[in-house]
Amino acid sequence: MNILFMGPPGAGKGTQAERIVEQFGIPHISTGDAFRLAMKQGTPLGQKAKEYVDQGLLVPDEVTNGIVRDRLAAEDCANGFLLDGFPRTLAQAEALDGMLAEMDRKIDHVINLKVDRGFLLARLTGRRICKTCGTTYHILFNPPKQEGICDKDGGELYQRSDDTEEKVGTRLDEYTSKTAPLLTYYGDKGLLREVDGEKEIDAVTTDIASLLRG
Ligand code: AP5
Ligand code: ZN
Repeated sequence: MNILFMGPPGAGKGTQAERIVEQFGIPHISTGDAFRLAMKQGTPLGQKAKEYVDQGLLVPDEVTNGIVRDRLAAEDCANGFLLDGFPRTLAQAEALDGMLAEMDRKIDHVINLKVDRGFLLARLTGRRICKTCGTTYHILFNPPKQEGICDKDGGELYQRSDDTEEKVGTRLDEYTSKTAPLLTYYGDKGLLREVDGEKEIDAVTTDIASLLRG
């Protein structure tokens, strides 16, 4: 199954993707994670991405499209994939259509996690991530058993550099102007499935899984 997760920053795409890929046995492809890894490793891609990610701006389409093209060609995507955070512009959506057509594949579902803008700032500024395994927590809504420590492996939790109030504002503006129009694009194709992302984390997972199992 080939799935896209849409939704504003902080809607819960990453949190839900971690759970859904486990249930469906498909790889989780997050362009945000790919950029953060490249930034940590200091590669040329990471240096380029950093100029944008650190400001809360979208990385240029040609850079982002190249990453996804390479990743989709990998063997583990043969039986499906979950794309999280891509596409984010109309040009990216059109590029994705082209890549999939070349591979004789198509998108099966576009899941849009709907969360009111008023909830997103608190979700993002309270987010903490494990340095070792990448598991996402929230200091209030999904806290680890021991403050600052990952439940799974004892790893140290950190805060993303773009999860500050100022950068969240820029990210939400980028979402509204460049990404939100994609909901119409996929709606017109009959692929869009809306999910209430304001429910509790487990309830959202149940709703997504039942939609996908259809
Ligand atoms: P990316 O990493 O994709 O960030 P994003 O879209 O801003 O999304 P987030 O990861 O912030 O949110 P999420 O929806 O995954 O929420 P999460 O599950 O963590 O992109 C980062 C940057 O990379 C971009 O700004 C851009 O610069 C660049 N980039 C990436 N892709 C690009 C592209 N295609 N084109 C150009 N540039 C690109 O949840 C958030 C918090 O809420 C967590 O703490 C979680 O525990 C909590 N939470 C989750 N669900 C619930 C719930 N139901 N109730 C209560 N709390 C919840
Ligand atoms: Zn961990």
